[in-house]
Amino acid sequence: MCGIVGYIGAKDAKDILLNGLEKLEYRGYDSAGIYVMSNEQRGHLFKEKGRIAALKDRVDHSVEANAGIGHTRWATHGEPSVRNAHPHQSTSERFTIVHNGVIENYQEVRDAYLEDIELVSDTDTEIIVQLIAWFAEEEGLATLDAFKKAIVALEGSYAIALIDNTNPDIVYAAKNKSPLLLGKGDGFNVICSDAMAMIKETNQFVELMDKEVAIVSKDSLSIENYAGDVIERDHYIAELDSDDLEKGTYPYYMLKEIDEQPAVMRKLVLKYQDENDHLSIDPKIIDTLLASDRVYIIAAGTSYHAGLVGKKLIEEVAQIPTEVHVSSEFGYNTPLLSEKPFFIFISQSGETADSRQVLVKTNEMKLPSLTVTNVAGSTLSRESDFTLLLHAGPEIAVASTKAYTAQIAVLAILAEVAGLKKGTIKESTLIHDLGIVANAMQTLVDDKDRIEELASEYLSISRNAFYIGRGMDYHVSLEAALKLKEISYVQTEGFAAGELKHGTIALIEDGTPVIAIVTEGKVAGHTRGNLQETKARGAHTMVISMDGLNRPDDQIVIPKVNPLLSPLVSVIPTQLLSYFCSLHRGNDVDKPRNLAKSVTVE
Ligand code: M6R
Repeated sequence: MCGIVGYIGAKDAKDILLNGLEKLEYRGYDSAGIYVMSNEQRGHLFKEKGRIAALKDRVDHSVEANAGIGHTRWATHGEPSVRNAHPHQSTSERFTIVHNGVIENYQEVRDAYLEDIELVSDTDTEIIVQLIAWFAEEEGLATLDAFKKAIVALEGSYAIALIDNTNPDIVYAAKNKSPLLLGKGDGFNVICSDAMAMIKETNQFVELMDKEVAIVSKDSLSIENYAGDVIERDHYIAELDSDDLEKGTYPYYMLKEIDEQPAVMRKLVLKYQDENDHLSIDPKIIDTLLASDRVYIIAAGTSYHAGLVGKKLIEEVAQIPTEVHVSSEFGYNTPLLSEKPFFIFISQSGETADSRQVLVKTNEMKLPSLTVTNVAGSTLSRESDFTLLLHAGPEIAVASTKAYTAQIAVLAILAEVAGLKKGTIKESTLIHDLGIVANAMQTLVDDKDRIEELASEYLSISRNAFYIGRGMDYHVSLEAALKLKEISYVQTEGFAAGELKHGTIALIEDGTPVIAIVTEGKVAGHTRGNLQETKARGAHTMVISMDGLNRPDDQIVIPKVNPLLSPLVSVIPTQLLSYFCSLHRGNDVDKPRNLAKSVTVE
């Protein structure tokens, strides 16, 4: 969701910015733009609605520039259009900025300072750049002071990069709540929303923290707080392989990422193994978890669905009561907490604003927290007490697949290590079980042709669909339904199989696809009965069952695995069904409409 890049140095800024924006495409956007200062010190602004490819066509490639800023915009204030695309400029065109986040008091700021200014866009961002210009041009403040004074007046979230065309040897940056990194190079420096955008240029990054300002030139990079105190911070090395960011021979990242899941399972075992080949987690995390009387899992979307499975694992294996909450609800309607809560934030990106606002509150309450994330150094990781990494490699497709299964696997490892220490389980079986899971996943990803046929038969023309299941199969149904709707736009509900008859069965018509997931022996018969109820009313039914519980006419039979880990395997055919359904409908599988990968606004 929105992305920022900035460059200052000897190379051609234009190309570096455009390449960087391409690397940020996965976050979701609907317009893009760059502003570059040419070697003759002239500013050039290029903006376009739609894809970066369109922006590339719009850019004047004869301009040679060595400083610039760029942006991908996911519309919040104002429709997606060239007018609303970033960068935005002050009326004088002296100041140009790009901005991620949402300014909550933009109307008040406008009323207080900018009543006489004619705005040219509908964005909250234009208010920021006009305010900087107002302080610089009306009050005569130096650029840095005007910048600081403007952002102090803002309420909300922001990551900002600013160029003053009267001093184009500096790019300024600031942030509050929205992520921003500074990258260090030899004779150049960069700014970016995430390291992926600039990993081709450098792997040395410095985090900018909330309420800090960066002053970036080609040879120096300094950080200070709003009071002017200089802040020294070491860089870290981003462990990203730029090859991981390519999709190779795959037509879409989503398919690549589905296929990577068996390898991710095996990698996780290696990453969490100690020198004695036992699964191991930082003892401080385990001790803090075991000292708690209740776990609260906080997450959104797919990560929330992984949390539902995590609850079952933590309760069964480590026997700690666990609640799972949608982060956007929890923050503003917090339930009565137990005496010793332990918070687990699950987030592929580590940047989800809804989850972060809960973490801010739990930190204020000094409650212990663990983030389970794919992105080292992400905001949630930095701001929580502990982090467990997913080691899934970059997930580029908007629809989350390998992060979901990695989240469940990491929670399984956490539960097992805690259970062994607590004595609620006697022996470790997880390394073996995850090996079997990896093999089972491989069988399913190798069976794509069959699943593609099923996608054509069941989902090619339907407008709606249902996934049903009980227990863990219900949790997977929720994830399967989200996956299908987000990339194929088929209205799909994930439903507790037994609940269907209490009203929703009224929606079943001739041909409505209803897919039952059946991996739990104790409820398998009930789920099959519920599926029959829909079939009797015309539904086009499919069964995904586990070997041992299967019946001869089940369409997909997944290999047998430890039932507690069945979601890791039963989800695979549902991911592939979504992928092929989206593909057959001619959708952009990796970049579904209206969605963003990293949801950095509440
Ligand atoms: O980065 P996060 O895991 O915190 O993201 C949460 C959701 O936005 C994300 O899972 C979303 O639901 C995905 N598009 C699902 O495929």
